[in-house]
Order: sequence, then C-alpha cells, then structure tokens
Amino acid sequence: MACKISVIGAGNVGASLAWCLIEKDFADIILLDIIEGLPQGKALDIYESSPITGFNSKITGTNDYQDTAGSDVVIITSGIGRKPGMTRDELLEINLKIVSGVTQKVAGCSPDCITIVVTNPVDTMTYLAFKVSGFTPSRVMGLSGVLDSARLSSFISAELKVLPEEVSSFVLGEHGRNMVVIPRLATVNGKPITELLPAEAINRLIERTINGGAEIVGLLKAGSAFYAPAAAAAHMVEAIILDKKEVLPCAAYLQGEYGIKDIVIGVPVKLGRNGIEEIVEFDLTLEEKEALQNSAEAVRKLVRSIDI
Ligand code: NAI
Ligand code: 2OP
Repeated sequence: MACKISVIGAGNVGASLAWCLIEKDFADIILLDIIEGLPQGKALDIYESSPITGFNSKITGTNDYQDTAGSDVVIITSGIGRKPGMTRDELLEINLKIVSGVTQKVAGCSPDCITIVVTNPVDTMTYLAFKVSGFTPSRVMGLSGVLDSARLSSFISAELKVLPEEVSSFVLGEHGRNMVVIPRLATVNGKPITELLPAEAINRLIERTINGGAEIVGLLKAGSAFYAPAAAAAHMVEAIILDKKEVLPCAAYLQGEYGIKDIVIGVPVKLGRNGIEEIVEFDLTLEEKEALQNSAEAVRKLVRSIDI
C-alpha cells in the first residue's frame, strides 16, 4: 500500500510542501484547509502537472479530516504567519488555538502517525502538539534546524564561492532570536568555517541566519518565507518515509538530553520510519551547552505563559 502524507494548511508553506512531496513520488498526499475550495484548487493544479513532471502518486484537496485517516506522516502548517515587525511569539495566541484543535483531529484520525509541526512559534507549538496528541516524544517534532542550517549553508556558500552542497551546517536551539549557531559545526568539505573565514564574516553570517525569517518578511511585506521552509520540511519527511536514519537538527521533546528536561528545542535527531529514533548528543563545550540550555529556558518561559 502507498504511504499517505497529510499536509494541514494549504497556504504558502502547505501548498509548496505538497508540491515538493508529490515530486518525490513516494506517497499519496492529502492537502487540507479550512477554506473551502483552496486545498481542492491547489491539489488539482498540482495534479495537472503530473504529465509534465511524471509523478504517479495521488494528491487530494479536502476540508474533511476523514480524508486524512490512517496517514503515516502529518505536517501541520495551519496558522497565521508573521507580518512585518511582528515576532514569532506574537503569533502565539492565535496559533495556539489553531494547532491545538488541528492536533486533536489529526490524532483522532491518524493515531499512529508521525507529526511534524511547522506553525510558529514552532518550538512552543510542537510542545503543544506533543501534549495534546498524547503521542510518544519520538512521533512529534518541529521544523527548525533544517531550515536555519540551510540558510546558514547558503550564506556560507555565497561568501566562500563554493557549491551549496559542499557546505554542511547544524544550527540548534530555538527557531527564533535564541537560535544557537555554533560556527565549528558549519563545515566546507569537512573543514570548519572557523578555519576558512575571519570572525567578522562568521558573526555577520550568524546574525543573518538568526534574522533569516525576518529578512524575508521584510522583503515580501505580506507573509513569510515558504520555498526553503517547504523544502526543509520535505527533507524531514523523506528521511522518515525512506527510513534514512539521517541525523538532522529538529525541534524535539527532551527528557534530560543536554541537561534539558520537559521542553521542545532544536537538537540533532536521527530520523527514520519510527520518527525520532535517537536524540544525538553532540560533544558540546560548556559554553555551547549553556547557550542551548538558555535557549530552552526562553522556550519554557513562552510555554509557561500559555499554561500548556
Ligand atoms: P499561510 O497564511 O499562507 O497559510 C496558512 C493556512 O492555514 C491558510 O491557508 C489558512 O486557511 C490555514 N488554516 C488556518 N486555520 C486552519 C485550521 N484550523 N485548519 C486548517 N487550516 C487552517 O501561512 P504560511 O506562510 O503557509 O505559514 C504557515 C505557518 O508556518 C505560520 O505560522 C508561519 O509562521 C509558519 N512557518 C514556520 C516555519 C518554521 O521554520 N517552523 C517556516 C515558515 C513558516
Ligand atoms: C521563517 O523562519 C517564518 O519562521 C519562519 O522564515
């Protein structure tokens, strides 16, 4: 039987993600939104590209959660995005209600699925989805580090004039101002950027990465980034569906790893058919570990403010 992936929210990220996933041709896709006609129209539009792009998987647009039943992976993108000048945390109040309601329906229709949360503020929304779903920590994660690392890698590739694929980055921590960018974890053909770039350039690229989402919001004026986020979420889904056991930085629920407990934060995880198959503990310096713990405390403060 074909794998089934449901994307909740057919907005910019959700529709772009459905497009990225269908091109991979490893699962049937359900695209769901509360707006009538929107997921149906976008799904039909994507389907009509099949003779050109050559995929055989099915894509269905719907407003009915019954159509998502028995999904292997569900990605939650429903919610509002950032407007210029707005922080991710200001989205909290609105997205809290949306993600909570959506998670209940997803868990009811697909009790065995793996859930990836995209909606911001993503670390807090992933924690919420984990609590509301009642799923094990291995089956709930958030999109953060794959996107943030891609941004850093793309900036490094432009700065050093090397191919993007020659660069590898691992950005950890909160998807927001408390992001933890450890320069020695960014490498070009295995060589840390600390050996390739002066401190001024490294700091500039780190700041640009932390500000990456806001930079796009400032340019677009309406809405936030969606192409790179969709590609990043699709990368996570692929690691799960194809059981790749790939180590990627994702927002995950911690139970003592890195000295952090009962909070969701971006850390390296091994992704496979069972979701998060391992929280990978990198050998961090005391200072780096402290930065990660401070980042986790910032998320905890937000979680406490909404009494999850
Ligand atoms: P968008 O506004 O284009 O799409 C959101 C969609 O959600 C809309 O079509 C809306 O009708 C739908 N929706 C709202 N309530 C719903 C409900 N109860 N059930 C089903 N659908 C519902 O926004 P966009 O650009 O797609 O962003 C979505 C979210 O993802 C935002 O919160 C944004 O901040 C976040 N985001 C997070 C990233 C990350 O790295 N974690 C990266 C990019 C975006
Ligand atoms: C981003 O980083 C909005 O969180 C989103 O682009």
